[in-house]
Amino acid sequence: MPEKPLRLLLVEDNLGDARLVKEMLSEAEGFTFDIQWAESLLAALDALSRGQFDVVLTDLSLPDSQGLDAFNAIRCHAPGLPVVVLTGMADERAAVEAVRSGAQDYLAKGNLSADTLVRALRYAVIRQVKSSEHTKSEPERATIVGMVSAKGGVGTTTIACHYAAELKRQTDQKVLLVNLDVSSAGARLLLKVDSPHTILDAARDLRRLDPSLWQGVVCESAEGIDLIQSPGAARLGDEISGDRVRHVLRFVRSLYRWIVVDMGPLNVLSMNLISEVKDLFLITTYELPSLSEANRVLRKLLELGLSANRVHLVVNRVSKAANVSKHDVEKALGYPVHALINNYSSEMYEAYCVGKFLDSGLSIRKHAAQLVARSLGLQAEPSRSSLKRLLFAKA
Ligand SMILES: Nc1ncnc2c1ncn2[C@@H]1O[C@H](COP(=O)(O)OP(=O)(O)O)[C@@H](O)[C@H]1O
Ligand SMILES: [Mg+2]
Repeated sequence: MPEKPLRLLLVEDNLGDARLVKEMLSEAEGFTFDIQWAESLLAALDALSRGQFDVVLTDLSLPDSQGLDAFNAIRCHAPGLPVVVLTGMADERAAVEAVRSGAQDYLAKGNLSADTLVRALRYAVIRQVKSSEHTKSEPERATIVGMVSAKGGVGTTTIACHYAAELKRQTDQKVLLVNLDVSSAGARLLLKVDSPHTILDAARDLRRLDPSLWQGVVCESAEGIDLIQSPGAARLGDEISGDRVRHVLRFVRSLYRWIVVDMGPLNVLSMNLISEVKDLFLITTYELPSLSEANRVLRKLLELGLSANRVHLVVNRVSKAANVSKHDVEKALGYPVHALINNYSSEMYEAYCVGKFLDSGLSIRKHAAQLVARSLGLQAEPSRSSLKRLLFAKA
């Protein structure tokens, strides 16, 4: 019986070299290779997070990464996947270093033959399977929860911080809060942490991103949760790319059990991350401008292919005097309300005056506790009807 094709990620910017490798592998007798080609490190990391591979063959001179950095980045993004290094004369030393750091093998481009190439790739896979039999193969990866604002000021950062603190308390697992609202760095105030570093530093240094670089940019709060700050107003104008932030998130998923992302209002940056998020909370208030935006955001999320069992509508700061019920909002939006949170402005004002932003006795924390408990329960729930049906259902 023929063996299953080996799924290979070929990382090579030189078209001629890539073509040569493909030709050599197509001639291999008795084996077939299912090859995906990436021309840069970023393209390779993207392919790794989207597809399944058996082995990576990578050049060390890439347009966006040189030497050992490329190998290390691939390693961090896909721990456990065998990597074979392909080198020119200039980076042989880096190739030896890569083997010392865990690459399965290195091959010099100068005297490459179809035989050595096929053998190196096959052995790399066999060796890796053997060594992973003794270790736990797939590390556990964090579940990502997103919080999106219908519009600025509806309380998303406040809820995200309390939610993250509650997740930590209820699960005692590692929690990361990512503040991506580029117009505000409010989470650092609530969590009382300070650091000159922001997500920009991790996103810029993607090639060198490893657990120790991460430790340098993240800050730990008194609640035991880590915060990676938004660039905020101080760094307004600094470019922040959704693609790069997505890679940062994918990388840190191996370091935490839970990641809560405060996305702020939906924008180009947050839209880029939607595909990574398991549960998404859309926060609104019940005032008309917010509800109208919430409706538009729900429709956009639908267009992006999210289903209703992943998008939870939370109506915040509902004053008792307004006499608004869940049913009223559901009727207005044609969408189920996941939770309704009262307005606690005087309680919060008093707590803030004495610096108790995240006090566990605050009423808003009790709502966050319920949201977390439901999320933990929701984990195993089967999918329900689609967002489309609910959105367009006549109330
Ligand atoms: N349930 C609530 N009751 C009263 N005030 C709230 C409530 N939730 C949030 N706030 C207040 O609303 C303001 C905006 O909150 P914030 O979390 O910064 O909003 P966003 O992140 O959506 O811009 C803050 O002053 C916060 O204390
Ligand atoms: Mg905010």
